[in-house]
Amino acid sequence: MTMKKKILEMLRNAGEKFVSGESIADKLKVSRTAIWKHIQNLRKRGYKITSSERLGYKLDETPDLLLPEIVEYGLKTEIIAADSHIIYKNSIDSTNDLAKRLAYFGAAEGTIVVAEEQTGGKGRLERHFFSPKEKGLWFSIILRPHCTPKDAPKFTLLAAVAVVQALEKFNLHAGIKWPNDILYDGRKLVGILTEMSAEIGHVNYIVVGIGINVNVRREEFPVDIREVAASLSEIAGENLSRVEIFRAILEEFDRLYIANDFDKVFKIWKKYNITLGAKVTVLSAESGDIFTGTAVDIDAEGALIVDTDCGRKIVYAGDVSIRPAE
Ligand code: BTN
Repeated sequence: MTMKKKILEMLRNAGEKFVSGESIADKLKVSRTAIWKHIQNLRKRGYKITSSERLGYKLDETPDLLLPEIVEYGLKTEIIAADSHIIYKNSIDSTNDLAKRLAYFGAAEGTIVVAEEQTGGKGRLERHFFSPKEKGLWFSIILRPHCTPKDAPKFTLLAAVAVVQALEKFNLHAGIKWPNDILYDGRKLVGILTEMSAEIGHVNYIVVGIGINVNVRREEFPVDIREVAASLSEIAGENLSRVEIFRAILEEFDRLYIANDFDKVFKIWKKYNITLGAKVTVLSAESGDIFTGTAVDIDAEGALIVDTDCGRKIVYAGDVSIRPAE
């Protein structure tokens, strides 16, 4: 553990009480001046620490940053982001791209890449994903499941389920639009981009990238998405702690991933879905076709089954818009 982490741990353990500079220095076997320097660094990172000549130091507030030492504190996961497997970037082009590179070079299953901002956030179908600084959760999870490429889409559904269930804990109620958008009031709160490296019959790794608008104000969204995007703060009516939501999602993801029970994932996905039963317009990513019909079910691989005037169609990848009832 680094000196910074050790000092933080002592301050956190003390709760509302002060810890004397002397006791920290004694325990860590360094000078009080060294401790003071570390405290100054922590303050620069956004920690609010009161110091008193007589009593020492007291931690008043932890910043809402996605730094590993903050996210890991109290995080209860066994695989996802466990064992210090959090790669943090203040700014990055795309967390998915870095996660794919790390996975290629052997990064452990459960490693996550998280950034305060993405300058080249990627959406599905080659779209750009708006990821402003310190306003949301932009992260990617590396998975190494023993499965075939055909099974990969299931992990996207698992991710969507993990996110909606975690949001429920904060009283934030959202719906899932096939395959992986999470919506509030018809507008998008969360996007998920799953990428994989595979050979015939065998997946090398899957990267699940999740982008969540947490504290983005309406006017901060670019004009072209303002009408179709939403932020969790809008539902809550106030800014929310990104760190707390992040931990809840990682824990939910971890639980579902370890359980490896996709019947259950599908059941929960269906409970929150807003696509099945609706009239939809589908842009198929495979054929480029656009057609309309009624979304009736998802199959065992998570593909969407749509009944059209020309018969039943199975959509493996594509974009669905839900048409208002006539
Ligand atoms: C979509 O809605 O089309 C998918 C959006 C996925 C965005 C996330 S943000 C973290 C990760 N890194 C990326 O570049 N994209 C995903």
